[in-house]
Amino acid sequence: MGFANSGLDEIAGVGADPKRGGYSRHGFDRVELELREWFTEQARRRGLDVRTDRNGNLWAWWGTPGKGAIVTGSHLDSVPGGGAFDGPLGVTSALAAVDLLRDKGFQPVKPLAVLVFAEEEGGRFGVPCLGSRLLAGTIEADKARALTDLDGTTLGDAVRAAGLDPARLGRDDEALATIGTFVELHVEQGRGLIDLGAPVAVAESILAHGRWRLRFTGEGNHAGATLMGDRRDPMLPAAQTVVAVRQAAKAVPQARATVGRVLPVPGGTNVIASTVDMWLDARSPDDAGTRAVVAEIAAAAREAAAAEGCAVEITEESYGDTVVFDTALRDRLAGWLGGVPALPTGAGHDAGVLAARVPTAMLFVRNPTGISHAPAEHAERDDCAAGAVALAEVLERLAG
Ligand code: GLV
Ligand code: MN
Ligand code: MN
Repeated sequence: MGFANSGLDEIAGVGADPKRGGYSRHGFDRVELELREWFTEQARRRGLDVRTDRNGNLWAWWGTPGKGAIVTGSHLDSVPGGGAFDGPLGVTSALAAVDLLRDKGFQPVKPLAVLVFAEEEGGRFGVPCLGSRLLAGTIEADKARALTDLDGTTLGDAVRAAGLDPARLGRDDEALATIGTFVELHVEQGRGLIDLGAPVAVAESILAHGRWRLRFTGEGNHAGATLMGDRRDPMLPAAQTVVAVRQAAKAVPQARATVGRVLPVPGGTNVIASTVDMWLDARSPDDAGTRAVVAEIAAAAREAAAAEGCAVEITEESYGDTVVFDTALRDRLAGWLGGVPALPTGAGHDAGVLAARVPTAMLFVRNPTGISHAPAEHAERDDCAAGAVALAEVLERLAG
């Protein structure tokens, strides 16, 4: 391959997490703001005009901003202790694609923009794809402004600290109307391309998925002085619910359900917790399947809570129905790239949110282990280069 898609090397030191391993880069935190500065600098060096929209998404324009633009990009934030590729690969590949197109003397006929979405993982404020949901109006601005991180900072406060006006958060039809077509390149989060022996694919669909908070409430007390029969320990129903999550997901074809975060309060070794917050991530190919999994889990949680004299409150924090990407666009892309395969994905993406409003496609780059949302997430250099070349080809066809 004649060039390296080297942006990832430039940001390799930003946001490394010595405790968890990998990277912890969250929406509007110090690290993500540093990455935004890096992106802005990179875009300006390429002569792109960088603007921040009302929701904190960064747009770098090649040509005069306007309707019918060809827009590509992804996000720079990560899950806690995440990999280097989920998000940043789509951003660095977009910049690399601009370089490739410039090198060959390409002049876009339609405006072209690189877009960096804010807080895609929901690692800080809990709702994934926050920047694209706000842009598309699929989350209420009031609800978004009130979202709170672990330190009690609201999204409203965080965006204000980043120089934005929280009152202006929300559906942005003017910005959305500029997008003629959106294409997001992403590291594959699965083993599809390994099994097919191909470096690049187009996306077919995204599972119906969401996040729920389960709050178990019992009675805080002394770990040594409280007889076993006298306890109302919310950790018990929480633990039983974790087991029920596995069983419920296994009962629905292709469903997945996960508890990746549990927070006992107050969280002392010699303290029976007074509450336990637990977050559920549930997904399946369709709405009915995902809803069935969650209903099963909710019933198990209520039964387990009652048996321990505890209460449970279940709150849906975010949800997105199945996404089937525009098939005509997908087939055009696959054809331009020499007939690359089409793959479904179990991961959520800003492209999935935008797909409800504008023609949208995705490109996946091979991941040699399939591991993602973990420090071991990887893509080989040659495959990253192939991804950028493929993206450049697609942008040239769409914007030319
Ligand atoms: C985002 O990567 C998600 O699928 O949770
Ligand atoms: Mn992710
Ligand atoms: Mn991602």
